[in-house]
Parts: sequence; structure tokens; C-alpha cells
Amino acid sequence: MAKKTQEFVCQNCGAAYNRWQGKCDACGEWNTISEENAAAERVFSGPGRPPRKGKPFPLAPLAGEQKEAPRIASKNGEFDRVAGGGLVPGSVLLVGGDPGIGKSTLLIQIAAALAAAGHRAVYITGEESVAQVRLRAERLGLTKIPVELAAETSVEDIIATLSQGKVPRLVVIDSIQTMWTDMVESSPGTVTQVRASAQLLIRFAKRAGAAVILVGHVTKDGQIAGPRVVEHMVDAVLSFEGEGGHHFRILRAVKNRFGPTDEIGVFEMTGGGLSEVSNPSALFLSERDLGAPGTAVFAGMEGTRPLLVEIQALVAPTSLGTPRRAVVGWDPSRLAMVLAVLEAHCGVKLGGYDVYLNVAGGLRIAEPAADLAAAAALVSSLAKTPLPSDAVHFGEVSLSGAVRPVSHAPARLKEAQKLGFARAVVPDATRGAERDGLALAPVASLADLVARIVPNRPAQRREAKS
Ligand code: TYD
Ligand code: MG
Repeated sequence: MAKKTQEFVCQNCGAAYNRWQGKCDACGEWNTISEENAAAERVFSGPGRPPRKGKPFPLAPLAGEQKEAPRIASKNGEFDRVAGGGLVPGSVLLVGGDPGIGKSTLLIQIAAALAAAGHRAVYITGEESVAQVRLRAERLGLTKIPVELAAETSVEDIIATLSQGKVPRLVVIDSIQTMWTDMVESSPGTVTQVRASAQLLIRFAKRAGAAVILVGHVTKDGQIAGPRVVEHMVDAVLSFEGEGGHHFRILRAVKNRFGPTDEIGVFEMTGGGLSEVSNPSALFLSERDLGAPGTAVFAGMEGTRPLLVEIQALVAPTSLGTPRRAVVGWDPSRLAMVLAVLEAHCGVKLGGYDVYLNVAGGLRIAEPAADLAAAAALVSSLAKTPLPSDAVHFGEVSLSGAVRPVSHAPARLKEAQKLGFARAVVPDATRGAERDGLALAPVASLADLVARIVPNRPAQRREAKS
């Protein structure tokens, strides 16, 4: 047996050190490093074992007969789309999110949907008692559905139980941080335990052909090991997000070996559990403040789906030496860029103003196509001129002030038309893509946009002369 050594492991990212230190060099988190017994894991993972003679195995050609992996659809459209079209047998999925966001609720609903379709679905909880899970299922109206339940935390016992009888199509483990295995000595919740337990469950999934969903809590304080330590071991990582105070939740694919990673699924938390939101644009636009300056509707894309969302800006004279720039839901460096372009090419001076930008509803936008909508909201707020409430915007702004075309213009315009918008402010290159009832207002540069919002600014006249 290997000599017993103590190792200091970051509970956030899994980096190991010889001695304790306050900050993890690998992930930059503070106070996440704690002492663990390393010897046991060494025995488990190799070097401590006597060498074994390997046995040969057959190699297969790349051009095989294998068709696309058959998928088990849960009939929950939003979940299936994010998972890449359904669960792949033998795959392992990690669903991460803040405590209380609704992971257990979502997964009991998915397990119930599969069980209702006649598949064997097992839900193992290490956090609640069976009675508590039943109580929740009762609230969700799922008590008649044959999901098999257990409150168990020993991975060996779980695998022994699941190996009996018909192979389950879906196993939900809620959560991976409460699981423990005899193979390592560390206490449950530590990196070593989480990693070893995940490894055993992954091996079981691949061997038996069951789809396994692991739940992982994301914790900032490092009290329990973050799901990041298993992210690279699993086939797909989905993150379940929501803003405090909003009742909708977004399921986002962070990594997916069997599907795209830019899809999102939108759910609404109701008294009867999570319900699918199949028309998220209507939801994100439902609380619009019509006629107020500083708001612009952005026609965005999330994966393959168009999504309309309101961008709000507030430009107000600053009382500080350095004006404030605060952004929620968008990239602060893109805001800085749009502000610089407005200042340099459009004569819009913002140095004396605080600028706040918010994406309504708590959505997070990553697309550069939002530049034009953000600029429109900023100029509208500064000029105290409301934008037409029936207009959508999209287009990327380059540093030269030109408005560049973006992908999926027809899908964006179609969604705007569907939701009753009458005009779209678009890049010049999108000219000619009009639809019935939707007029286009092409802008070649950001100065064009400013001129459209505030027709007779002195700065504009100067630009027009040059
Ligand atoms: P839960 O699924 O337990 O979260 P997690 O597993 O991510 O920790 O969800 C808990 C929250 O969801 C809790 O604040 C109550 C709310 N909720 C509803 O609003 N409606 C419901 O039908 C259910 C079951 C929960
Ligand atoms: Mg839970």
C-alpha cells in the first residue's frame, strides 16, 4: 500500500497542492483549499496496484455501420432541445445550478415523463427523504406515475440495486455532492469523493447503457466541491439559471458531446412545477414600458431559435469624477466599445454621463448583433426621445462606425413579424428582406442610426457636410 500522504485540494477546481494556501493559483478562488487523504485515491487509480497483464481487444474501423445514437425523448420540448434531441443511452449529463433554482423539480418532471412513456426511470436522492420527494411529486400531480424512488448515498449500493432487473433508461442522482464511495477515505462532498463517485456512476452508465443525470450544486463559498471537478468527465453539462425575483428559468448547454452548445430552454416556475415556455419572446416582452425613452427591442438568436428581448439604457449626468458604467446581461467591454464609437464617429459626447444598460427579464446576451439595439437605447435615453414601439433592431457595430450584417437575419425578421412588429432597423446589407407588414429601415453606419433617432442634431449636420 502506498504511504499515507496528506494532500491539499481546491474544492472548487480540484487542483492539488503540497501545503495549504489561502488562494488557489489555478482558479483564483479564496479559501477553497482543504486537506484530504491522498493515499486512498492513489491505490484506486493505479500506481499502488500490482501490475496486471493486459489482454488484447478487437479494434473497429472508423467507417462502421453505426447509425446516429438512438435518443430517448422525454417529450419535454425545451429539455430535449437543449440535450440535443433527447437523452443518449449510456451518456452522463451534469445539471448544475444554484441551490433552490429548481433542479430537483425539473428532473423529477423529466423522470416522470420518461416513466409515463413506459421506460424504467429511477430517481435517487441524497438530499431529501422519500417522503419529501413524494410530497413534491404530489404538488406536481405526478403521484400516479411509476418513477422508482430511493433516498440513498452509497454509490456501491446504488449500482448494485440498479444492476438488478431491467436496465433503467434514466437514472437521476440528486446530487453528486451527497454521494460517497468506499473506495476513497475522504468525507462526502470533497473533491476526491465527488470525483470517485462520478467515475463509478459513469462506468455504470457506459456498461449498462443507461442515461445518468447527475445534479451538481454550484457553490461560491467552496463549502462543498463544485461540479467543475466532474465537468470534463461527463458527456454533457447543462446549467440551470435564473435571476432572483424572476420566475422563469433558463437551461443552457455548456458542453455537449452529442449536440449543439448554443441552445437554451426556457421554463417558468409555477405553483405546479416548471412549465415549458415555447414562445419566450412573448414572455420577455410582456412587461414592456411602451413610450419610455431608453428602451429598444433586440431581435436576437439563441442557438437555432430567434428571441426578442428589450434592452434598457439610462444615461444620466454624473455626479462623480469618473462616470459609472454598469451593465446587466451584456458584455461590459462591448458597451465600452459602442460608447467609444458613438463618441468618435457620431459626435455623441457621453463623458459627463453615467451609463446603465440592462437586458430585461434577466436574460444574458452574448451576441455582437445586439450592438445596434444597445446603441439605439443609449441614444434614445440621452436625447429623451422614445423609439417607435413597433420597431426591432439588430446589427453589429464595427470600430469604424459601420453597421455590419449578422447571421440568421430572415429568422429574426420572421419572429418580429410574428409578434406584430411593423419595422426593423437593420444593417444596410439586409436591405430587400422585407416581409408582409414588416418594413425595413437599413442603416449603413451608427451615425445614420443617430440621425434617424435625433434628426437635427448639430453634430449630425457637421458630419453630413464632410
Ligand atoms: P428545487 O427543485 O428544490 O431546487 P434545487 O433542487 O435546485 O435546489 O426547487 C425549489 C424551489 O422551487 C423552491 O424555492 C420552491 C420552488 N417551487 C415552486 O415554485 N413550485 C413548485 O411546484 C415546486 C416543486 C417548487
Ligand atoms: Mg434539490
